[in-house]
Amino acid sequence: MKSKASAPGKIILFGEHFVVYGIKAILCAINKRVTVLAEDIPENKIIIKSRIKDLVLSPNIPISQVDFQLRPFYYLADKIIKEQNEKSGMQITVDSEIPLGVGLGSSSACCVAGAAAISGVFTRNSREEILEMAIEAEKTIFPNTSGADCTVCTHGGIIQYDKQNGHSKIDSKPKFHLIIANSKIEHSTKEIVSKVKLFKEENKEKFSNICNEENNLIEDVLICLNNNDFGGIGKSIIKNQEYLEKIGVSNEKLRNMIEIANQSSFGSKLTGAGGGGCIFALTDESNKEITLQQLKENNYECFSAMIDFKGLDTF
Ligand code: PMV
Repeated sequence: MKSKASAPGKIILFGEHFVVYGIKAILCAINKRVTVLAEDIPENKIIIKSRIKDLVLSPNIPISQVDFQLRPFYYLADKIIKEQNEKSGMQITVDSEIPLGVGLGSSSACCVAGAAAISGVFTRNSREEILEMAIEAEKTIFPNTSGADCTVCTHGGIIQYDKQNGHSKIDSKPKFHLIIANSKIEHSTKEIVSKVKLFKEENKEKFSNICNEENNLIEDVLICLNNNDFGGIGKSIIKNQEYLEKIGVSNEKLRNMIEIANQSSFGSKLTGAGGGGCIFALTDESNKEITLQQLKENNYECFSAMIDFKGLDTF
């Protein structure tokens, strides 16, 4: 039996880092996808084929011995094979349009599409059940995950998330184009989160003031989203970037990319942990091409994406 599923990547529109300290973040799914094909095979092996590497492993080995990035797939296949009490194995083929390790949700999309495809070989599960499995699988690589990334990859659209209230869907369906540019600087989310923690400890009052400003900004953004006010959202994007600058998670390359993107878009900022990774610029039909062109002329790798409203798809 073959089972196939795909899930979108994501970006953090607002609130990265501050979300760690209780402020609300806004995330959206983007129309770049990971597709996973799973099939049972007679041999008692777990075979994973991906752009990272190909693996052939026996079931039942400790997860710590599996290649870091491919752990979620192994975890899911091993669990499902055990649950089915099967003597057979599973082959998993991963195909992705999402760049790796730059904060665009490649790993959560893998977990969601992986959970749906792998479990789908034997049973049909609800989206909620798949999301639960995906978060469990993501914990094999990010034990402290909030689950927000997997949530937005499963349901698509825009979500708000905060530590106290968890996630909820934002119903607006804006048709903006996001220009995403990759700094090609690898970053470690863990290291940058620790750096921000240090900044907070050394600048308690300053940090608390920035958190308050971010909180007010997010409230404004929610109104702008409701009113389809791209200009207003753009202004908030620029302000949010200023706050991220203040806490030290930007750098010269990101600043340069943002400066270029701000010339023609409604506003741009880094997305995710910072220190590298990606920036995004908010545009519509009127300024999308020129923003792309200006970033490309400066030799930045970039592409245009829209919000994905579909989320998880199974075939
Ligand atoms: O770069 P990403 O997509 O892993 O985002 C990190 C977001 C942070 O707020 C910096 C950390 C977190 O756990 O929320």
